[in-house]
Amino acid sequence: MTTVGIDAVEIWTGNLKLDLPGTFAPEKGEAPEKYTKGLGLNASSFPDSYEDIVTMGANAAYRLMDRKGLEPEDIGRIDVATESAFDNSKPVSTYIAGCLEQVYENDFHHANKGERKFACIAGTQSLDDAYNWIRAGRNRGRGALVIATDTALYARGDAGEATQGAGAVAMYIAEDPDLVELSADQGYGSADETDFLKPNQQFPSVDGKRSVQVYLARMREALEDYESVAGDVHPDDLAFIPFHTPFPGMVRKAGLLGYRHITRDTAIEDELAEEIGRQPRKEAFDDEEAFRDAVREYMDALKETDRYQEWYAETIDPTLTLSREVGNWYTGSVHIARVSAMKHALENGRDLTGETLLVGSYGSGAQAEIHAETVQENWAEEIEALNIDGQLEARYDLSWEDYEEVHDAHNHDMDVDVEELTTPHEEFVFDGWGRMGERK
Ligand code: CAA
Repeated sequence: MTTVGIDAVEIWTGNLKLDLPGTFAPEKGEAPEKYTKGLGLNASSFPDSYEDIVTMGANAAYRLMDRKGLEPEDIGRIDVATESAFDNSKPVSTYIAGCLEQVYENDFHHANKGERKFACIAGTQSLDDAYNWIRAGRNRGRGALVIATDTALYARGDAGEATQGAGAVAMYIAEDPDLVELSADQGYGSADETDFLKPNQQFPSVDGKRSVQVYLARMREALEDYESVAGDVHPDDLAFIPFHTPFPGMVRKAGLLGYRHITRDTAIEDELAEEIGRQPRKEAFDDEEAFRDAVREYMDALKETDRYQEWYAETIDPTLTLSREVGNWYTGSVHIARVSAMKHALENGRDLTGETLLVGSYGSGAQAEIHAETVQENWAEEIEALNIDGQLEARYDLSWEDYEEVHDAHNHDMDVDVEELTTPHEEFVFDGWGRMGERK
Protein backbone atom coordinates (compact mmCIF):
# COMPACT_ATOMS: atom_id res chain seq x y z
CA MET A 1 0.00 0.00 0.00
CA THR A 2 1.32 3.46 -0.85
CA THR A 3 2.11 5.80 2.00
CA VAL A 4 0.05 8.98 2.55
CA GLY A 5 1.10 11.97 4.57
CA ILE A 6 2.55 15.46 4.62
CA ASP A 7 4.77 15.99 1.62
CA ALA A 8 5.76 19.60 2.33
CA VAL A 9 5.12 22.38 4.79
CA GLU A 10 5.55 26.16 4.74
CA ILE A 11 5.07 28.73 7.47
CA TRP A 12 4.11 32.40 7.26
CA THR A 13 4.33 34.57 10.35
CA GLY A 14 2.50 37.82 10.99
CA ASN A 15 4.92 40.64 10.15
CA LEU A 16 4.88 42.31 13.58
CA LYS A 17 6.38 41.22 16.89
CA LEU A 18 5.16 42.02 20.39
CA ASP A 19 7.88 41.58 23.02
CA LEU A 20 6.00 40.09 25.97
CA PRO A 21 8.46 40.38 28.89
CA GLY A 22 9.97 43.64 27.58
CA THR A 23 6.97 45.64 26.28
CA PHE A 24 3.72 43.95 27.36
CA ALA A 25 4.50 42.90 30.96
CA PRO A 26 5.62 46.37 32.19
CA GLU A 27 2.47 47.99 30.75
CA LYS A 28 0.36 45.39 32.58
CA GLY A 29 2.32 45.84 35.82
CA GLU A 30 3.40 42.18 35.68
CA ALA A 31 6.73 40.46 36.27
CA PRO A 32 8.52 39.52 33.00
CA GLU A 33 9.00 36.02 34.52
CA LYS A 34 5.27 35.37 34.23
CA TYR A 35 5.95 35.26 30.46
CA THR A 36 9.46 33.78 30.25
CA LYS A 37 8.99 31.19 33.01
CA GLY A 38 5.23 30.78 33.63
CA LEU A 39 3.64 30.94 30.17
CA GLY A 40 6.97 30.18 28.47
CA LEU A 41 6.66 32.99 25.91
CA ASN A 42 9.17 35.58 24.70
CA ALA A 43 7.07 37.19 21.97
CA SER A 44 3.91 36.98 19.86
CA SER A 45 3.68 37.39 16.12
CA PHE A 46 1.13 40.02 15.32
CA PRO A 47 -0.62 40.78 12.01
CA ASP A 48 0.13 44.14 10.43
CA SER A 49 -2.88 46.21 9.35
CA TYR A 50 -2.54 44.88 5.78
CA GLU A 51 -2.49 41.22 6.91
CA ASP A 52 -5.34 38.85 7.62
CA ILE A 53 -6.06 35.11 7.47
CA VAL A 54 -6.34 35.25 3.67
CA THR A 55 -3.06 37.02 3.00
CA MET A 56 -1.10 34.92 5.50
CA GLY A 57 -2.65 31.68 4.16
CA ALA A 58 -2.01 32.71 0.54
CA ASN A 59 1.57 33.70 1.31
CA ALA A 60 2.31 30.35 3.00
CA ALA A 61 0.59 28.41 0.19
CA TYR A 62 2.39 30.35 -2.54
CA ARG A 63 5.79 29.69 -0.96
CA LEU A 64 4.93 25.99 -0.74
CA MET A 65 3.68 25.69 -4.34
CA ASP A 66 6.57 27.68 -5.72
CA ARG A 67 9.21 25.67 -3.85
CA LYS A 68 7.69 22.29 -4.73
CA GLY A 69 6.99 23.26 -8.36
CA LEU A 70 3.27 22.56 -7.89
CA GLU A 71 0.70 23.89 -10.38
CA PRO A 72 -3.03 24.34 -9.67
CA GLU A 73 -3.80 21.12 -11.60
CA ASP A 74 -1.70 19.14 -9.05
CA ILE A 75 -4.13 20.17 -6.30
CA GLY A 76 -7.46 18.34 -6.02
CA ARG A 77 -8.70 20.02 -2.85
CA ILE A 78 -7.99 23.11 -0.80
CA ASP A 79 -9.12 23.05 2.81
CA VAL A 80 -8.68 25.99 5.11
CA ALA A 81 -8.83 25.49 8.86
CA THR A 82 -9.48 28.64 10.82
CA GLU A 83 -11.35 30.03 13.78
CA SER A 84 -10.91 33.61 12.54
CA ALA A 85 -13.20 33.45 9.47
CA PHE A 86 -15.03 36.62 8.43
CA ASP A 87 -17.55 35.04 6.04
CA ASN A 88 -20.25 32.61 7.18
CA SER A 89 -20.94 31.39 3.66
CA LYS A 90 -18.01 31.61 1.25
CA PRO A 91 -15.06 29.57 2.52
CA VAL A 92 -11.70 31.22 3.11
CA SER A 93 -10.16 28.71 0.66
CA THR A 94 -11.94 30.47 -2.22
CA TYR A 95 -10.38 33.81 -1.23
CA ILE A 96 -6.96 32.17 -0.99
CA ALA A 97 -7.39 30.40 -4.34
CA GLY A 98 -8.33 33.82 -5.79
CA CYS A 99 -5.03 35.25 -4.57
CA LEU A 100 -3.00 32.34 -5.96
CA GLU A 101 -4.77 32.55 -9.33
CA GLN A 102 -3.22 36.01 -9.80
CA VAL A 103 0.16 34.30 -9.97
CA TYR A 104 -0.56 31.05 -11.86
CA GLU A 105 -1.65 30.77 -15.45
CA ASN A 106 -4.24 28.06 -14.69
CA ASP A 107 -6.90 28.26 -12.02
CA PHE A 108 -8.22 25.87 -9.35
CA HIS A 109 -11.37 25.16 -11.32
CA HIS A 110 -11.44 21.45 -10.51
CA ALA A 111 -10.34 21.58 -6.89
CA ASN A 112 -12.85 20.88 -4.12
CA LYS A 113 -12.61 23.84 -1.71
CA GLY A 114 -13.85 23.98 1.85
CA GLU A 115 -13.40 25.33 5.34
CA ARG A 116 -13.04 23.30 8.54
CA LYS A 117 -14.07 24.56 11.94
CA PHE A 118 -13.51 23.05 15.35
CA ALA A 119 -11.33 25.64 17.08
CA CYS A 120 -7.61 24.77 16.97
CA ILE A 121 -8.06 21.07 16.12
CA ALA A 122 -9.51 21.95 12.69
CA GLY A 123 -6.03 21.98 11.09
CA THR A 124 -5.49 18.35 12.06
CA GLN A 125 -9.06 17.45 11.05
CA SER A 126 -8.28 18.88 7.59
CA LEU A 127 -5.19 16.66 7.40
CA ASP A 128 -7.40 13.70 8.30
CA ASP A 129 -9.93 14.67 5.60
CA ALA A 130 -7.16 14.87 3.01
CA TYR A 131 -5.76 11.51 4.14
CA ASN A 132 -9.21 9.88 3.90
CA TRP A 133 -9.83 11.41 0.44
CA ILE A 134 -6.56 10.00 -0.87
CA ARG A 135 -7.06 6.61 0.83
CA ALA A 136 -10.56 6.42 -0.66
CA GLY A 137 -8.96 6.70 -4.12
CA ARG A 138 -10.86 9.87 -5.02
CA ASN A 139 -7.80 12.06 -5.60
CA ARG A 140 -6.99 11.11 -9.22
CA GLY A 141 -3.27 11.28 -8.48
CA ARG A 142 -3.53 14.80 -7.07
CA GLY A 143 -2.69 16.09 -3.59
CA ALA A 144 -4.53 18.32 -1.11
CA LEU A 145 -3.53 21.76 0.06
CA VAL A 146 -4.33 22.21 3.76
CA ILE A 147 -3.93 25.72 5.15
CA ALA A 148 -4.25 26.49 8.86
CA THR A 149 -4.47 30.27 9.27
CA ASP A 150 -5.50 32.40 12.23
CA THR A 151 -5.21 35.76 13.88
CA ALA A 152 -5.42 34.76 17.55
CA LEU A 153 -6.33 38.11 19.06
CA TYR A 154 -8.21 38.70 22.31
CA ALA A 155 -10.04 41.79 23.55
CA ARG A 156 -7.79 44.37 25.20
CA GLY A 157 -7.67 43.65 28.93
CA ASP A 158 -8.79 40.00 28.56
CA ALA A 159 -6.47 37.47 30.26
CA GLY A 160 -6.02 35.84 26.84
CA GLU A 161 -4.26 39.00 25.58
CA ALA A 162 -1.06 37.46 27.02
CA THR A 163 -1.29 34.50 24.62
CA GLN A 164 -1.99 36.11 21.23
CA GLY A 165 -0.36 35.30 17.90
CA ALA A 166 -0.89 35.27 14.14
CA GLY A 167 0.36 33.12 11.30
CA ALA A 168 -0.37 30.43 8.77
CA VAL A 169 0.90 26.93 8.01
CA ALA A 170 0.40 25.44 4.53
CA MET A 171 0.79 21.68 4.04
CA TYR A 172 0.65 19.53 0.92
CA ILE A 173 -0.85 16.10 1.61
CA ALA A 174 0.00 13.48 -0.96
CA GLU A 175 0.93 9.89 -1.72
CA ASP A 176 4.56 8.92 -1.13
CA PRO A 177 5.22 12.01 1.03
CA ASP A 178 8.64 13.56 1.70
CA LEU A 179 8.06 14.68 5.31
CA VAL A 180 5.89 12.34 7.42
CA GLU A 181 3.53 9.44 6.84
CA LEU A 182 0.22 9.70 8.74
CA SER A 183 -0.87 6.57 10.58
CA ALA A 184 -4.41 5.24 10.21
CA ASP A 185 -4.88 4.91 13.98
CA GLN A 186 -6.39 7.82 15.88
CA GLY A 187 -7.74 8.37 19.39
CA TYR A 188 -10.31 10.99 20.39
CA GLY A 189 -11.54 12.69 23.56
CA SER A 190 -14.58 14.84 22.81
CA ALA A 191 -17.23 16.60 24.92
CA ASP A 192 -19.59 19.58 24.65
CA GLU A 193 -17.73 22.33 26.54
CA THR A 194 -18.04 26.14 26.68
CA ASP A 195 -14.51 27.05 27.74
CA PHE A 196 -13.77 29.18 24.65
CA LEU A 197 -16.38 30.56 22.21
CA LYS A 198 -16.75 33.14 19.43
CA PRO A 199 -20.49 33.22 18.63
CA ASN A 200 -20.72 35.99 16.00
CA GLN A 201 -18.13 38.10 17.78
CA GLN A 202 -14.67 39.18 16.81
CA PHE A 203 -12.80 38.32 19.99
CA PRO A 204 -13.31 35.12 21.99
CA SER A 205 -15.10 34.73 25.31
CA VAL A 206 -12.73 32.55 27.31
CA ASP A 207 -12.78 30.91 30.69
CA GLY A 208 -8.99 30.66 30.64
CA LYS A 209 -8.36 28.60 33.77
CA ARG A 210 -11.12 26.15 32.90
CA SER A 211 -9.85 25.88 29.31
CA VAL A 212 -6.56 24.54 30.67
CA GLN A 213 -8.37 21.81 32.63
CA VAL A 214 -10.60 20.91 29.66
CA TYR A 215 -7.52 20.63 27.40
CA LEU A 216 -5.87 18.19 29.84
CA ALA A 217 -9.03 16.10 30.36
CA ARG A 218 -9.72 15.68 26.62
CA MET A 219 -6.05 14.96 25.90
CA ARG A 220 -5.97 12.18 28.51
CA GLU A 221 -9.13 10.64 27.01
CA ALA A 222 -7.66 10.84 23.50
CA LEU A 223 -4.50 9.10 24.67
CA GLU A 224 -6.53 6.30 26.27
CA ASP A 225 -8.62 5.95 23.11
CA TYR A 226 -5.48 5.90 20.95
CA GLU A 227 -3.89 3.16 23.05
CA SER A 228 -7.10 1.13 22.78
CA VAL A 229 -6.55 0.89 18.99
CA ALA A 230 -2.79 1.23 18.54
CA GLY A 231 -1.60 -0.57 21.68
CA ASP A 232 0.35 0.82 24.62
CA VAL A 233 2.67 3.73 23.90
CA HIS A 234 6.19 3.49 25.32
CA PRO A 235 7.78 6.88 26.15
CA ASP A 236 11.20 5.87 24.83
CA ASP A 237 9.77 4.88 21.40
CA LEU A 238 8.79 8.45 20.56
CA ALA A 239 11.15 10.96 18.95
CA PHE A 240 8.91 13.93 19.78
CA ILE A 241 5.38 14.72 20.93
CA PRO A 242 4.18 17.90 19.23
CA PHE A 243 1.14 19.10 21.20
CA HIS A 244 -1.26 21.92 20.43
CA THR A 245 0.61 24.84 22.01
CA PRO A 246 -1.52 27.84 23.01
CA PHE A 247 1.55 28.73 25.12
CA PRO A 248 4.48 26.49 26.16
CA GLY A 249 3.39 26.42 29.83
CA MET A 250 0.27 24.51 28.72
CA VAL A 251 2.43 21.85 27.08
CA ARG A 252 4.53 21.53 30.24
CA LYS A 253 1.32 20.34 31.91
CA ALA A 254 0.29 18.13 28.98
CA GLY A 255 3.74 16.50 28.82
CA LEU A 256 3.66 15.59 32.50
CA LEU A 257 0.12 14.22 32.23
CA GLY A 258 1.07 12.20 29.16
CA TYR A 259 4.20 10.78 30.79
CA ARG A 260 2.31 9.70 33.90
CA HIS A 261 -0.29 8.04 31.71
CA ILE A 262 2.07 6.11 29.45
CA THR A 263 4.37 4.95 32.24
CA ARG A 264 1.54 3.52 34.33
CA ASP A 265 1.88 -0.27 34.82
CA THR A 266 5.29 -0.31 33.13
CA ALA A 267 8.83 -1.09 34.26
CA ILE A 268 9.42 2.68 34.34
CA GLU A 269 6.75 3.06 37.05
CA ASP A 270 8.43 0.23 38.99
CA GLU A 271 11.80 1.95 38.75
CA LEU A 272 10.38 5.33 39.75
CA ALA A 273 8.51 3.74 42.67
CA GLU A 274 11.71 3.48 44.72
CA GLU A 275 12.17 7.23 44.47
CA ILE A 276 8.61 8.66 44.53
CA GLY A 277 6.25 5.76 45.28
CA ARG A 278 3.69 4.17 42.92
CA GLN A 279 1.01 6.07 41.03
CA PRO A 280 -2.15 6.40 43.13
CA ARG A 281 -4.94 3.98 42.04
CA LYS A 282 -8.50 5.29 42.13
CA GLU A 283 -9.88 2.08 43.63
CA ALA A 284 -7.68 2.61 46.70
CA PHE A 285 -9.53 5.86 47.59
CA ASP A 286 -13.02 6.28 48.98
CA ASP A 287 -13.25 9.92 48.23
CA GLU A 288 -12.55 11.67 44.94
CA GLU A 289 -10.83 14.68 46.50
CA ALA A 290 -8.30 12.56 48.40
CA PHE A 291 -7.51 10.70 45.15
CA ARG A 292 -7.03 14.00 43.29
CA ASP A 293 -4.69 15.28 46.02
CA ALA A 294 -2.65 12.08 45.86
CA VAL A 295 -2.37 12.37 42.07
CA ARG A 296 -1.25 16.00 42.38
CA GLU A 297 1.38 15.00 44.94
CA TYR A 298 2.64 12.19 42.67
CA MET A 299 2.83 14.53 39.66
CA ASP A 300 4.75 17.14 41.68
CA ALA A 301 7.29 14.48 42.66
CA LEU A 302 7.43 12.98 39.14
CA LYS A 303 8.18 16.42 37.66
CA GLU A 304 11.33 16.67 39.78
CA THR A 305 12.81 13.27 38.83
CA ASP A 306 15.89 13.19 36.55
CA ARG A 307 14.24 10.49 34.47
CA TYR A 308 11.22 12.68 33.66
CA GLN A 309 13.25 15.84 33.16
CA GLU A 310 15.60 14.14 30.68
CA TRP A 311 12.63 12.71 28.76
CA TYR A 312 10.90 16.11 28.69
CA ALA A 313 14.08 17.87 27.51
CA GLU A 314 14.47 15.41 24.63
CA THR A 315 10.90 14.69 23.61
CA ILE A 316 8.82 17.79 24.36
CA ASP A 317 10.98 20.87 24.87
CA PRO A 318 12.25 20.98 21.23
CA THR A 319 8.64 21.25 20.02
CA LEU A 320 8.29 24.62 21.79
CA THR A 321 11.12 26.70 20.29
CA LEU A 322 9.02 28.42 17.61
CA SER A 323 5.98 28.82 19.82
CA ARG A 324 8.05 30.74 22.39
CA GLU A 325 8.74 33.36 19.71
CA VAL A 326 5.33 33.51 17.97
CA GLY A 327 2.60 32.72 20.54
CA ASN A 328 -0.66 30.98 19.71
CA TRP A 329 -1.54 30.38 16.05
CA TYR A 330 -4.67 28.38 16.93
CA THR A 331 -5.15 25.91 14.01
CA GLY A 332 -1.50 26.16 12.96
CA SER A 333 -0.07 25.75 16.44
CA VAL A 334 0.41 21.97 16.58
CA HIS A 335 1.86 22.10 13.06
CA ILE A 336 4.55 24.59 14.02
CA ALA A 337 5.30 22.39 17.05
CA ARG A 338 6.06 19.51 14.62
CA VAL A 339 8.30 21.78 12.50
CA SER A 340 10.03 23.15 15.60
CA ALA A 341 11.01 19.64 16.75
CA MET A 342 12.22 18.54 13.31
CA LYS A 343 14.22 21.77 12.91
CA HIS A 344 15.84 21.07 16.29
CA ALA A 345 16.83 17.57 15.12
CA LEU A 346 18.24 18.95 11.87
CA GLU A 347 20.28 21.61 13.69
CA ASN A 348 21.65 18.93 16.03
CA GLY A 349 22.62 16.53 13.24
CA ARG A 350 20.10 13.87 14.28
CA ASP A 351 18.62 11.63 11.59
CA LEU A 352 14.91 11.19 12.25
CA THR A 353 14.18 8.86 9.33
CA GLY A 354 11.80 6.10 10.43
CA GLU A 355 11.23 7.63 13.87
CA THR A 356 7.80 8.20 15.39
CA LEU A 357 6.08 11.45 16.31
CA LEU A 358 3.00 11.27 18.50
CA VAL A 359 0.87 14.30 17.64
CA GLY A 360 -1.57 15.70 20.23
CA SER A 361 -4.06 18.14 18.70
CA TYR A 362 -6.71 20.04 20.63
CA GLY A 363 -9.63 22.34 19.92
CA SER A 364 -11.70 24.13 22.54
CA GLY A 365 -15.34 23.31 22.66
CA ALA A 366 -13.77 20.61 23.04
CA GLN A 367 -11.91 17.78 21.33
CA ALA A 368 -8.45 16.22 21.40
CA GLU A 369 -6.95 13.84 18.85
CA ILE A 370 -3.84 11.70 19.16
CA HIS A 371 -2.25 10.10 16.11
CA ALA A 372 1.22 8.86 15.17
CA GLU A 373 3.39 9.89 12.22
CA THR A 374 6.50 8.24 10.77
CA VAL A 375 9.29 10.53 9.58
CA GLN A 376 10.20 9.98 5.90
CA GLU A 377 13.67 9.88 4.41
CA ASN A 378 13.53 13.30 2.66
CA TRP A 379 12.48 15.12 5.84
CA ALA A 380 15.76 17.01 6.27
CA GLU A 381 15.61 18.68 2.82
CA GLU A 382 12.04 19.76 3.53
CA ILE A 383 12.87 21.32 6.88
CA GLU A 384 16.08 22.90 5.55
CA ALA A 385 14.07 24.68 2.85
CA LEU A 386 12.09 26.69 5.42
CA ASN A 387 13.02 30.35 5.93
CA ILE A 388 11.23 30.74 9.27
CA ASP A 389 14.26 32.15 11.12
CA GLY A 390 14.60 34.91 8.51
CA GLN A 391 10.87 35.68 8.74
CA LEU A 392 11.03 35.95 12.53
CA GLU A 393 14.02 38.26 12.36
CA ALA A 394 12.35 40.50 9.76
CA ARG A 395 9.33 41.20 12.03
CA TYR A 396 8.84 44.81 13.08
CA ASP A 397 9.19 45.23 16.85
CA LEU A 398 6.08 46.99 18.18
CA SER A 399 6.20 49.73 20.79
CA TRP A 400 3.26 49.78 23.22
CA GLU A 401 1.67 52.69 21.27
CA ASP A 402 2.07 50.81 17.95
CA TYR A 403 0.49 47.76 19.55
CA GLU A 404 -2.56 49.71 20.73
CA GLU A 405 -2.99 51.24 17.29
CA VAL A 406 -2.69 48.02 15.34
CA HIS A 407 -4.93 46.06 17.77
CA ASP A 408 -7.58 48.76 17.33
CA ALA A 409 -7.16 48.58 13.55
CA HIS A 410 -7.94 44.85 13.63
CA ASN A 411 -11.03 45.61 15.69
CA HIS A 412 -12.53 47.91 13.04
CA ASP A 413 -13.00 48.04 9.30
CA MET A 414 -9.75 49.08 7.78
CA ASP A 415 -8.78 50.65 4.57
CA VAL A 416 -5.17 50.25 3.65
CA ASP A 417 -3.60 52.27 0.88
CA VAL A 418 -1.57 49.56 -0.86
CA GLU A 419 0.23 52.16 -2.96
CA GLU A 420 1.82 53.47 0.24
CA LEU A 421 2.84 50.07 1.59
CA THR A 422 6.35 48.84 2.06
CA THR A 423 6.45 45.23 3.32
CA PRO A 424 9.46 43.16 4.40
CA HIS A 425 8.87 40.62 1.60
CA GLU A 426 7.02 40.38 -1.70
CA GLU A 427 3.62 39.19 -0.50
CA PHE A 428 -0.16 39.25 -0.81
CA VAL A 429 -1.61 42.22 1.09
CA PHE A 430 -5.12 43.03 2.34
CA ASP A 431 -6.64 46.11 0.79
CA GLY A 432 -10.10 46.29 2.37
CA TRP A 433 -13.32 44.35 1.77
CA GLY A 434 -13.67 42.85 -1.70
CA ARG A 435 -10.21 43.94 -2.81
CA MET A 436 -8.17 41.36 -0.96
CA GLY A 437 -4.98 39.76 -1.91
CA GLU A 438 -3.08 42.11 -4.20
CA ARG A 439 0.52 40.96 -4.47
CA LYS A 440 3.02 43.71 -3.55
N1 CAA B 1 7.37 33.99 37.86
C1 CAA B 1 7.19 32.72 37.38
N2 CAA B 1 5.96 32.24 37.03
C2 CAA B 1 4.90 33.07 37.13
C3 CAA B 1 5.02 34.40 37.62
C4 CAA B 1 6.34 34.85 37.99
N3 CAA B 1 6.55 36.09 38.43
N4 CAA B 1 3.80 34.95 37.61
C5 CAA B 1 2.93 34.02 37.15
N5 CAA B 1 3.58 32.89 36.87
C6 CAA B 1 3.06 31.63 36.32
C7 CAA B 1 1.79 31.16 37.05
O1 CAA B 1 2.09 30.43 38.22
C8 CAA B 1 1.14 30.32 35.96
O2 CAA B 1 1.78 29.07 35.87
P1 CAA B 1 1.01 27.72 36.34
O3 CAA B 1 -0.25 27.66 35.55
O4 CAA B 1 1.97 26.64 35.99
O5 CAA B 1 0.75 27.91 37.80
C9 CAA B 1 1.51 31.07 34.67
O6 CAA B 1 2.62 31.89 34.99
C10 CAA B 1 0.40 31.98 34.15
O7 CAA B 1 0.02 32.85 35.19
P2 CAA B 1 -1.51 33.14 35.51
O8 CAA B 1 -2.29 31.85 35.56
O9 CAA B 1 -1.57 34.04 36.67
O10 CAA B 1 -1.89 33.92 34.17
P3 CAA B 1 -3.24 34.54 33.69
O11 CAA B 1 -4.19 34.81 34.80
O12 CAA B 1 -2.86 35.65 32.82
O13 CAA B 1 -3.92 33.37 32.81
C11 CAA B 1 -4.23 32.00 30.92
C12 CAA B 1 -3.23 32.55 31.94
C13 CAA B 1 -5.42 31.35 31.62
C14 CAA B 1 -3.53 30.97 30.08
C15 CAA B 1 -4.72 33.20 30.04
O14 CAA B 1 -3.64 33.77 29.38
C16 CAA B 1 -5.77 32.81 29.03
O15 CAA B 1 -6.97 32.85 29.30
N6 CAA B 1 -5.34 32.45 27.76
C17 CAA B 1 -6.29 32.10 26.70
C18 CAA B 1 -6.87 30.71 26.86
C19 CAA B 1 -5.87 29.62 26.63
O16 CAA B 1 -4.87 29.78 25.97
N7 CAA B 1 -6.16 28.43 27.16
C20 CAA B 1 -5.32 27.26 26.95
C21 CAA B 1 -6.14 25.98 26.89
S1 CAA B 1 -7.43 26.14 25.67
C22 CAA B 1 -6.62 25.93 24.18
O17 CAA B 1 -5.55 25.42 24.12
C23 CAA B 1 -7.31 26.42 22.93
C24 CAA B 1 -6.65 27.67 22.51
O18 CAA B 1 -5.72 27.65 21.75
C25 CAA B 1 -7.16 28.93 23.07
